[in-house]
Amino acid sequence: MKILGIETSCDETAAAVVSDGRILSNVISSQIEAHGHFYGVVPELASRAHQQKISAVIAEALRDAFPGSKMTDLPDLVDAVAFTQGPGLTGALLVGKTAARTLAWAHELPLIGVNHLEGHAFAVEFVSKVELPFIALIVSGGHTDLVLVRGPGRYRVLGRTRDDAAGEAFDKVAKLLKLGFPGGPAVDRLSRQGDPQSVKFPRPLLPGTWDFSFSGLKTAVLYHTQRFPKARPEDICASFQEAVVDTLVEKTLAAARRFRAKNIVIGGGVAANSRLRAALVERGMKAGFAALFPPPALCTDNGAMIALVAERRLEAGLKTSRSARFAVDPSMPMRNW
Ligand code: KG4
Ligand code: ZN
Repeated sequence: MKILGIETSCDETAAAVVSDGRILSNVISSQIEAHGHFYGVVPELASRAHQQKISAVIAEALRDAFPGSKMTDLPDLVDAVAFTQGPGLTGALLVGKTAARTLAWAHELPLIGVNHLEGHAFAVEFVSKVELPFIALIVSGGHTDLVLVRGPGRYRVLGRTRDDAAGEAFDKVAKLLKLGFPGGPAVDRLSRQGDPQSVKFPRPLLPGTWDFSFSGLKTAVLYHTQRFPKARPEDICASFQEAVVDTLVEKTLAAARRFRAKNIVIGGGVAANSRLRAALVERGMKAGFAALFPPPALCTDNGAMIALVAERRLEAGLKTSRSARFAVDPSMPMRNW
């Protein structure tokens, strides 16, 4: 089975072709330059950039997967077209949906709407065989979700953030320290030269719930920089990062124990964080859990993960349609199929 997957939920315009769980192409056009001055994603600018790039990105994904092919060959090349239906920015999602729907309609191909978070939870399958049930920690710019996954389409969302997402906290701390956007990679890099024990930032563990909360931690960093203006940014970054990682790892391991998970999986942009990856492997191993994650390029937004979930949906015999019922949903939950 071959699927064209289109992803435009936030600030990456992405398209990919996946064939039976293998990536044939994966094209990602980032909008970092457009949003950099604002230290965050500006929805209107994101939609415009998607509009400008979507056709070229899809054409490149098809050319990479099937050299010498033309857009008119599409019905002979793929079995379905998939797109991110939500969650995400409404205007951004609409660009991907419109492109996918137009292609599906013109070429009489099935159209499949995919949940972005399911994409992040399953992207690991491109590189590892995952045992069920697993605990998925989905950590991105918009989400911090802890999910018990019993199989494709079988989820129990245990907890999520009550305020800032983990990636948002990284981005806000980076803005505070004037490190640029997106902040996560910059904080990750600078932390390597810092002392993670230099500042004892709070670990917002919220006992008795699987939820997270990172806004207090971000405020603690702000107060610290105001009180100690000469503190080394390297030490602040490393200490902040350690507090986020400790909190994420502690709760994820507790959930894995409680629900007798076979594996722990992380996905989403923050799963590219080098300290989070190392800590989860090390502390997971001590607790008897293998932690699995995609390579960094498949942690951040991409079309391949969307095509992969669409493939799982078709394998599960889910009906697809070219009709109009695929409204985008900016706050789409991870629903059971
Ligand atoms: O999944 P993603 O590409 O987009 C969303 O769906 O939000 O995640 C982007 C987020 C940003 O907040 C970015 O700062 C963060 O992931 N991020 C990182 C790292 N790389 C990306 N956070 C910490 N460490 C990293 N290495
Ligand atoms: Zn994402």
